[in-house]
Amino acid sequence: MRIGHISDLHILAISDVRPWEYLNKRLVGGLNLLLNRSKAHSSVVVERALEALASLDVDHIVISGDLTNLALDSEFAAAAEIIRSIESASTRVSVVPGNHDYYTPGAAKEGRFERHFKDYLKSDLPEYQLERGYPFCHLRDDVAIVGLNSGLATPWLFATGKVAEDELEQAARLLDDERLKSRFKVVVVHHPLMADEHHRFNFNRRLLNADEVLTTLRQKNVDLVLHGHNHYLSVLQVPKLGEPGTTYVCEAGSTSMEGGDPVMAGKFNIYTIEDGALAEIETHLFESHESGFRPFRSEVFRQRVEEPAE
Ligand SMILES: [Fe+2]
Ligand SMILES: [Fe+2]
Repeated sequence: MRIGHISDLHILAISDVRPWEYLNKRLVGGLNLLLNRSKAHSSVVVERALEALASLDVDHIVISGDLTNLALDSEFAAAAEIIRSIESASTRVSVVPGNHDYYTPGAAKEGRFERHFKDYLKSDLPEYQLERGYPFCHLRDDVAIVGLNSGLATPWLFATGKVAEDELEQAARLLDDERLKSRFKVVVVHHPLMADEHHRFNFNRRLLNADEVLTTLRQKNVDLVLHGHNHYLSVLQVPKLGEPGTTYVCEAGSTSMEGGDPVMAGKFNIYTIEDGALAEIETHLFESHESGFRPFRSEVFRQRVEEPAE
């Protein structure tokens, strides 16, 4: 099974926004985003990434949040249209919200993200879902993909997140379910669970209960955690706590970044899972509009050993 991982698309679609909608938090965030983000993030780059993924033999696509900038209906609609272009999207896509998808209390309260992406939040184990729709679980071949919500409407200049206590409890129960026992377990959550070499847990943009979430996932022997938020390629490893083995914690970076050096340019990952274990992580990098994405980095965890011919 091969899982594609895109993230932090930050689709900008503001044509139908009235100025008064920028009052409150959007006044600061909106102006800032208009000045900076519109130059940096491009939906055309996301379309190129999806074209590349379609040609790379990927079975499933995970999107780890921040699909929008201001959580506007117009942005969600534009992002939903791009996702719908994925072949068999309703069964091949898992998506969770980021802090930008809960940018205002209104967007969070009315469940705007959940309304636009309800097709991708349907759970194969609905008995564990809370009212808002999380945690959800997609069972595909020998893999279970569990989606968590860390989105939080925050004050100005804050991008913090939190997985609600009751949601984490439900996720723990779900991960204990018999039907997940022999499967490779993937959890998707927008905020990072660990600091990496370039990102400490900054006070104003961290996951407030990161330690608690990470400990729970390690206790439940999660194999792979996929996140976004830092816009930075990162592959971290920690031991599982319930059995021998490794929990990998990975971010591809922002997929929609149009230019810049390889650190900043658009990226997506592909995880190959073979015989119930992570075999390889490939990272692909946006090079130019002419050439699209190219292979950038690969980390092999398990070499396939050919049986010697008799
Ligand atoms: Fe982001
Ligand atoms: Fe974020």
